[in-house]
Amino acid sequence: MVALNNTLLNFEQMDETQFQRWTNLLEDRTGMHLPKERRSFLETSLGLRMKEIGMHDYAAYYEHLQSERYGQREWLTLVDRLTIHETRFFRHQPSIDVLEQVILPELFASEPQRKKLQIWSAGCSTGEEAYTLGMVADQFIRHQVPYTQQSRNCYIAVMGMDISVPALVNARKAIYDKYKVRYVPEDYLEYYFDRQQDGRYQVRDELKKRVCFVPFNIIDMKKVLLEPMDIIFCQNVLIYFNRERRKQIIEQLVKRLKSGGFLVLGAGEALTSPHAELKKIDFTNALAFVKK
Ligand SMILES: C[S@@+](CC[C@H](N)C(=O)[O-])C[C@H]1O[C@@H](n2cnc3c(N)ncnc32)[C@H](O)[C@@H]1O
Repeated sequence: MVALNNTLLNFEQMDETQFQRWTNLLEDRTGMHLPKERRSFLETSLGLRMKEIGMHDYAAYYEHLQSERYGQREWLTLVDRLTIHETRFFRHQPSIDVLEQVILPELFASEPQRKKLQIWSAGCSTGEEAYTLGMVADQFIRHQVPYTQQSRNCYIAVMGMDISVPALVNARKAIYDKYKVRYVPEDYLEYYFDRQQDGRYQVRDELKKRVCFVPFNIIDMKKVLLEPMDIIFCQNVLIYFNRERRKQIIEQLVKRLKSGGFLVLGAGEALTSPHAELKKIDFTNALAFVKK
């Protein structure tokens, strides 16, 4: 389909050297590995963007991206076009189940006086994962933590992070059309969203104020100062990186977890033994680990 579009749109075909140059740039700056089979995706994405800004050849556009004056700004737009933002609320049910049935109960049992629960959605795209985590944690506290327990007043703080600034702008708006909220359970939809006159759904302030969004590059995590997290979700992100990068990213994620904290990856995204400090949780179809 992309190849067909490409032919119809009549974008210049890249030769091997050009393709290598662009994939190296992408790999250097984002860590993402673009295989040969995705050449037409690259040609289409670059071609469309070049057309928008009135440029006609890959080499000139490449130089434009290096320019001190315009390069950085243009890069932010381009990286958004080259990254896949597909996401949805309650995307992977077994991961939600392990959160509700194992992770949250263990975190609250091990710290009954808990005042804060810190959750990180790494590669959060337009916010659906971060809001899902906020809703599930809030429901857990409301319905599972006894009234007598101090952690009933525990503050939930979810941080969504992504390399795509336009995706984060949408995440902060927190307005989703009907199709986007189709997997949100009916009672959650009623409780956490306001239906607008245009039929779209706005996340209510009560949930919105607990979720913040910050631009970041997952391969530059060393530069990010963060308090250690109780839970990190990093789903459908590692698939874009090669084995060595995945290893480095997991290493950094583990560093940002509290001892006894949990890491949840997308099913099939980890390496066979991702990290010596991680112990796998035995839960069907979910890839979750506790930090020893
Ligand atoms: C397919 S989405 C996954 C969204 C969400 N985690 C989910 O599972 O539904 C992948 C996200 O990873 C982000 N991403 C890709 N490379 C990144 C990087 N180097 N640093 C941070 N985010 C990155 C993309 O911008 C995109 O929003």
